Amino acid sequence: MIGPGEYIDPLLLRPFSLADITPPDDKHPNGSLIFFIRVAGKGTNILKRLTVGTSLSVIGPLGLGFPPVADDEKLLVVAGGIGIASVLGLTKKYQGVPLFYGDRTKGRMLNIEWLEMPEDDIHITTDDGSCGKKCGVLEFLESHISQLRESYTGKIKIYACGPHGMYRAMAGMNLNAEVYVSLETPMACGVGTCLGCAVDTVNGLKMVCKDGPVFNLKDIIWDG
Ligand SMILES: Cc1cc2nc3c(=O)[nH]c(=O)nc-3n(C[C@H](O)[C@H](O)[C@H](O)COP(=O)(O)OP(=O)(O)OC[C@H]3O[C@@H](n4cnc5c(N)ncnc54)[C@H](O)[C@@H]3O)c2cc1C
Ligand code: FES
Repeated sequence: MIGPGEYIDPLLLRPFSLADITPPDDKHPNGSLIFFIRVAGKGTNILKRLTVGTSLSVIGPLGLGFPPVADDEKLLVVAGGIGIASVLGLTKKYQGVPLFYGDRTKGRMLNIEWLEMPEDDIHITTDDGSCGKKCGVLEFLESHISQLRESYTGKIKIYACGPHGMYRAMAGMNLNAEVYVSLETPMACGVGTCLGCAVDTVNGLKMVCKDGPVFNLKDIIWDG
């Protein structure tokens, strides 16, 4: 949870994914925490205008991340939009894993240099075709899985971060895989006390900030 210390409006810190951690160097003797932040409203606009050297209020790390991947499982990583920030660490931890990264248009996407992975492992889609394939990221994922299934019958795990609409669509697809998603529900306290980030699951109400943000997709109950 991050916020500019001296502001009282907005009062609440905002949740962001810790995209990366870099070790100390000459320029940053304490090392760095890397965040990718897309401007959405008041809080992110204030963060955008901060100048170098400003102190921030930070609480974290909070919540639970993606579970470990077993040796006999194939991992596929999916990022929709700014969800790329949440899965960047995974692509470093599990090298050689394919990344499916989609957004509306090229201008909204992260420069692929930040991904630090072989280009052959990165499958990019945009709705308008300005970068990568012109299709939805799930369409691409689905065709990759059906190709993979021609020669591989073992377990497939999918780790995804993106908008709720993407998860709803995934819940309705037959992906023949175990899917974990990182929910980006708006948050207030970030530590499980305000109940503002509750999500309905087959195991009862869960707090995205404390019990998540990562959940098994099949456990989430979608309303409507
Ligand atoms: C676990 C988690 C990790 C996240 N990681 C990142 C990240 O790495 N990078 C990043 O850019 N963003 C991330 N987000 C989303 C980010 O927290 C919101 O964009 C931010 O809180 C918006 O704050 P604001 O004050 O700028 O917008 P507000 O003024 O509060 O809201 C502006 C608009 O954005 C909508 N909004 C607010 N919060 C969210 C949200 N969480 N999801 C969808 N819509 C929202 C509001 O409904 C409103 O329409 C993450 C969210 C969660 C819960
Ligand atoms: S944000 Fe307060 S309980 Fe999750």
